[in-house]
Amino acid sequence: MILRGPGSVKKPRYKVHPPRRKRKPERHIGALMQGPDFAMRPMREEDLPAIMRVETAVYPYPWTEGIFRDCLQVGYCCRVLWGAGEILGYGVMSMAVDECHILNVCVHPQAQRQGFGRRILRRLLAIGRSRNADTAFLEVRASNRAALGLYALEGFCEVGMRRGYYPLGPAREDAVIMACPL
Ligand SMILES: CC(C)(COP(=O)(O)OP(=O)(O)OC[C@H]1O[C@@H](n2cnc3c(N)ncnc32)[C@H](O)[C@@H]1OP(=O)(O)O)[C@@H](O)C(=O)NCCC(=O)NCCS
Repeated sequence: MILRGPGSVKKPRYKVHPPRRKRKPERHIGALMQGPDFAMRPMREEDLPAIMRVETAVYPYPWTEGIFRDCLQVGYCCRVLWGAGEILGYGVMSMAVDECHILNVCVHPQAQRQGFGRRILRRLLAIGRSRNADTAFLEVRASNRAALGLYALEGFCEVGMRRGYYPLGPAREDAVIMACPL
């Protein structure tokens, strides 16, 4: 710590109030999300370009547009969270007889940490429940702290591990398998 003597204290250059800094116009999506004007709806084919912009911005190994198209075509449960004229996030889930599998949950980088991931996940789980699934499963990268935190918060527990499941540069990364009773 540097201690200054009384003679070295600089007087402020302003008289009463500090000068106001000019604020840049706010383009943060989260700041636009204060109103009720956002909702979840089924994903549509015409959403895919916007979804791909989010997907490639967020994941180091993103899904291709073809994977999303296939998910739509085979009738997987695909939902988008829409608001402020943008896709804020989306979720994809497959359904089997009595279980569902969360395949993708993703939130726009500028909209993260505002409860949207939780909202998307809860909607998928509610759909699974309404279709009589009794368990939801998913895989997540062992290093993905945000997703592990979200899933644990929503009642998922670790039930296994797939060694070297995901690509990671020249190496591989483990997948944590998680399950949640519905
Ligand atoms: C994982 C993801 C979907 C979370 O969405 P989000 O909208 O940012 O998360 P939420 O605001 O709903 O947060 C819910 C909880 O998740 C956990 N969480 C979310 N982001 C976190 C972070 N960066 N670090 C630690 N915990 C985090 C917290 O427990 C949080 O609760 P809290 O805010 O009360 O502490 C988002 O980070 C994302 O899109 N990540 C990239 C895609 C991805 O990895 N998807 C999962 C693939 S399996």
